[in-house]
Amino acid sequence: MDIFNEVESQVRSYCRSFPTVFTTAKNARLVNKEGDSYIDFLAGAGTLNYGHNNDLLKQPLIDYIQNDGVTHGLDMFTDAKERFLKAFKSIIMEPRGMDYKVQFTGPTGTNAVEVALKIARKAKGRSGIVSFTNGYHGCTLGAQAATGNKGQRGGAGVSLDNVTRIPYDGYGDAGDDFMGLKLLDQMLTDPGSGVEVPAGVIVETVQGEGGLNAARLDWLKELEALCRKHDMLFIVDDIQAGCGRTGTFFSFEPAGISPDIVTLSKSLSGYGLPFAVTLMRPELDQWKPGEHNGTFRGNNLAFVTARVALEEYWQDKAFEQEIAKRAEIIEKRFGDIIKRFGEDQLVLKGRGMMRGIGTPDGDIAEKICKEAFANGLIIETSGPWDEVVKCLCPLTIPVEDLNKGIDILENAFAKVMPESKAKAS
Ligand SMILES: Cc1ncc(COP(=O)(O)O)c(C=O)c1O
Repeated sequence: MDIFNEVESQVRSYCRSFPTVFTTAKNARLVNKEGDSYIDFLAGAGTLNYGHNNDLLKQPLIDYIQNDGVTHGLDMFTDAKERFLKAFKSIIMEPRGMDYKVQFTGPTGTNAVEVALKIARKAKGRSGIVSFTNGYHGCTLGAQAATGNKGQRGGAGVSLDNVTRIPYDGYGDAGDDFMGLKLLDQMLTDPGSGVEVPAGVIVETVQGEGGLNAARLDWLKELEALCRKHDMLFIVDDIQAGCGRTGTFFSFEPAGISPDIVTLSKSLSGYGLPFAVTLMRPELDQWKPGEHNGTFRGNNLAFVTARVALEEYWQDKAFEQEIAKRAEIIEKRFGDIIKRFGEDQLVLKGRGMMRGIGTPDGDIAEKICKEAFANGLIIETSGPWDEVVKCLCPLTIPVEDLNKGIDILENAFAKVMPESKAKAS
């Protein structure tokens, strides 16, 4: 592995937790050069909801390449794009009564967030944005300004302005009702507060990088109502929680809310190909042609796999039922782990198949993940102190692999938690 240390930038991160060279991957399994097979509970940080190299998507992709389908076409019309848009309209938007314009942004999630923030500022003619404690929206400067993580903000090198941070649902220990939304409402209403009405509010329904904090559905409704009351655009960043991760295609569906702007990326291509979109209410589509540009806006290979993923998994409720079945297993078994190793120390986090276990500190969580990796499970931490052990396994994971992975995780807790209990006492 010398070449990585010698040549690759220090900025590399995930490979530090999983120091082995991987060669092949299938569904929820990764195999390294030595032929060791690992169960993957990281899945590209939520990018591989349909698993690695999903055969249903692979063959249409191979056929498209084999037939010399257009790979790169800037934002020109291609039949791959045409078919994706038709599928997205008929399978995703129409059945949900949604009417959004779809903007193909640069290829990663942070590009979709940049667009969302620009649209909001342009449409409202205001520069301010409200985001939430422990929110994560990406590493380009606009998105980073809306991101909480101190370490990453420190890497920006310029001031990260025009964003006001408000406590997320359940933030802090005070249990003070006059936090978060009520405080924001008061400040926006009071002409003496000094807080100007922002262009929009950006929120994750479940905070992925921020520690799997799941907002209550009522809180999301309240947030939407607050946006309407104060004429702020309501932006849901569904990059990690969307595409089925929490149980429905959009994570906000159970809340019955209608965001003005939605960002999607990660699992949207279905195959791990770079792909991102920003959805906006038609009246917000106030761009002049090329006003927001980019060479890689819309990835034709991703159009193919994304379209097939919609056709294969989202035409009916069968996939949602499969997700619910696995989510139930995760909830039950994580609940058992929490009971076994101390409800006073551990807490269940997240929603659907976006689940984690909050531990007392980052040191314990890191030890658990390290121990799990030594025994064939790839799992990472999240949260402000890296204290949450986070499970983002493919939604298509075979139940057998899911249970095996949780067995490994439970054994890792057994190895680490008694030690931590002794330390605490
Ligand atoms: C909610 C959310 N928004 C935006 C991003 C940024 O996406 P990307 O890393 O593809 O730029 C992420 C990445 O983890 C995310 O979880």
